[in-house]
Amino acid sequence: MQVVAITNQKGGVGKTTTALTLASELALAGQRVLVIDMDPQENLTMGLGVEVPSDGATLYEVLTRGVALAEAIYPVPDERLEMLHIVPAGPYLARAESELPGQIGFDEILKHRLQSCSGYDFAILDAPPSLGPLTINAVGAADLVLSPVQCEFFSARGVVKLLDVVDVVRERRNPDLRFRVVPTLYDKRNNICRAVLAELRKQFGHQVCGVTVGVDTRVRESQARGVPLGLYAPKSRAAIAYRELAQEVITLLSSEGVARAAA
Ligand SMILES: Nc1ncnc2c1ncn2[C@@H]1O[C@H](COP(=O)(O)OP(=O)(O)O)[C@@H](O)[C@H]1O
Ligand SMILES: [Mg+2]
Repeated sequence: MQVVAITNQKGGVGKTTTALTLASELALAGQRVLVIDMDPQENLTMGLGVEVPSDGATLYEVLTRGVALAEAIYPVPDERLEMLHIVPAGPYLARAESELPGQIGFDEILKHRLQSCSGYDFAILDAPPSLGPLTINAVGAADLVLSPVQCEFFSARGVVKLLDVVDVVRERRNPDLRFRVVPTLYDKRNNICRAVLAELRKQFGHQVCGVTVGVDTRVRESQARGVPLGLYAPKSRAAIAYRELAQEVITLLSSEGVARAAA
């Protein structure tokens, strides 16, 4: 299983949209996908219309109560997405930010839980807007950290901070960890947007994805209806961009698999 963590410590940059749309595009392309809602705001869980029974296990119990990941996995109501399963955040996940640091090896709990979970090609993690214990768990479990970045002033600074975390994880735990920026909410008519994208490419080179996701009204519409974009408006520009992103991710992670097998 390949693990993709969607992270950026800023809110409103397109993390949940990217997690939801990338996960559903991968599932529609025939991959078996587990999406994990790691944001206490539960936007991803709500966006997929998943209702958890009041005594049902969630990510909170997995991270803090020793519950197996398999017990917190739920199907998505839309039957066209039978290849997609979800681990919901749960109403208490915010508490994990303060409870986790008290546990030994807290930054690798999710990684270990994922290792004992089989039957999926991809796990997609929707991280919260912070660099706290939940995001550290996401990065610690990842093969690829994918960071949606809105093309506006100071975006590059946030990327540098996140890259510092990625570098520490690479050095201490996972030298193969990949990092990619995906420009989101891009408005090509806006000069500042274009300049910031050029600057990101200059500063981060091949670590910026080939795909750029433009501003598209269909994104909000699809979320208001609770239908993933790829099913609501499959021909919209944003849906096409996310379909290309899914292929880019498959290629990136499968070539890594080949390189490792050959080494
Ligand atoms: N490509 C896009 N075009 C238009 N609106 C978008 C796009 N991507 C995200 N949005 C909207 O921007 C808001 C923030 O996106 P979201 O994915 O929730 O960000 P985050 O998870 O980083 O806080 C949401 O209302 C979402 O519908
Ligand atoms: Mg979000």
